[in-house]
Amino acid sequence: MLRDVSAIAPAAPAQPIGAVSATEAMHRPTGVPELDRVLGGGLVPGGVALLAGEPGVGKSTLLLDVAHQWAARYPDSLALVVSGEESASQVRLRAERMGTLHDRLYLAAETDLSAVLGHLDAVRPGLLVLDSVQTISSSAADSAPGGVTHVRAVTSALVAVAKERGIATVLVGHVTKDGGIAGPRALEHLVDVVLHFEGDRHSTLRMVRAVKNRFGAADEVGCFELHDAGIRGLADPSGLFLNRHVEAVPGTCVTVTLEGRRPLLAETQSLVASTQGPPRRTVSGLDGARLAMVLAVLERRAKVRLHDRDVFAATVGGVRIAEPAADLAVALAVASAARDVPIPPDLIAVGEVGLAGEVRPVSSAPRRLAEAARLGFRRALVPVGADPATHGQAPGIEVIEVPDLGSALRAAVEVWARQEAPLER
Ligand SMILES: Nc1ncnc2c1ncn2[C@@H]1O[C@H](COP(=O)(O)OP(=O)(O)O)[C@@H](O)[C@H]1O
Ligand SMILES: [Mg+2]
Repeated sequence: MLRDVSAIAPAAPAQPIGAVSATEAMHRPTGVPELDRVLGGGLVPGGVALLAGEPGVGKSTLLLDVAHQWAARYPDSLALVVSGEESASQVRLRAERMGTLHDRLYLAAETDLSAVLGHLDAVRPGLLVLDSVQTISSSAADSAPGGVTHVRAVTSALVAVAKERGIATVLVGHVTKDGGIAGPRALEHLVDVVLHFEGDRHSTLRMVRAVKNRFGAADEVGCFELHDAGIRGLADPSGLFLNRHVEAVPGTCVTVTLEGRRPLLAETQSLVASTQGPPRRTVSGLDGARLAMVLAVLERRAKVRLHDRDVFAATVGGVRIAEPAADLAVALAVASAARDVPIPPDLIAVGEVGLAGEVRPVSSAPRRLAEAARLGFRRALVPVGADPATHGQAPGIEVIEVPDLGSALRAAVEVWARQEAPLER
């Protein structure tokens, strides 16, 4: 409860909206195009972005690169990296390895908030990278360091300073494998931009995705490749994706699911084996009831024999797909496994499968297709009416509308035959 609240002189008076300066919210490109793409043009002075990801995914590497690019790009502005995780000499070694040393790139190893503010006073940077927000504590907070309440208090203080001084700020936030117990989720409403840094330990591909963006769209993805000497933006990651699928194994099909507004490419896989006893249906990352329905439709409407065979269906990399829009890809993967015929590796499929075998419409088809095209896929099987070209939009990908499961299977085989033909000549 609040008692004795009285008015004080405001820090800045309210103004007619037309008189408010708009330049303060202008993006400054970081010089890392794949990141700028996600940010909607760059970092905003006074804006605070949170880069969240699992340990080892490459957050420190990416941000050291960003700080270096910033220093090199803006002669009037300094970049300050504050590391609470590594010693200054460790960060320096990393910078040497990456070739990112620069006169205007400043570095401090610090874990105390007041000392961080002291560094800001001394350096007066245009860009602050704080790695990580969980390692910074403050004796001024009445909560114990390490807890979510404490991290939140530290973040609020940093956001206030960034806004007041117009410092473009990037905070690193660690998330744990099971999704953010360490705090970033609890910080999302405090900051202007939330970026998720994703990537599989066994692959060098990394993706940065905006989950929230007060300064731009939140549906862009930035692709990077992590290598020994640092990190490199992948403006065109298609090669990487096509490489991964180059063997064209029967039983896999890629789909595009939506997470909120965000399209996400996901591979579905299936294995069909002769059964020992009652047929088994095993799923991982997919909905079991949904799979049973797709199998029944495949058997009854597309004459794929499954009732006396074991069916395994899974997603890759632990992704969970609950969306009916993935039905078509799951059906194609299972049919492909059952008939031992691969699905073309550059093809994606989106569509809900109905009990009559019909392929039903999905939401946001153009956005899904744009993402697939952006990530290097060349062909898409979609429900009738989902071709963006019918609405005058360029999908950037060959779109094949399929009314039902049978036509989807035929179209997949046809595309494959067409693709193989030049090689046979
Ligand atoms: N000294 C090093 N030599 C070679 N590779 C390294 C070194 N330090 C880190 N890496 C590689 O860079 C990856 C990203 O590391 P880092 O940027 O520190 O991740 P994060 O900050 O997200 O925890 C690591 O997974 C590791 O493979
Ligand atoms: Mg790190």
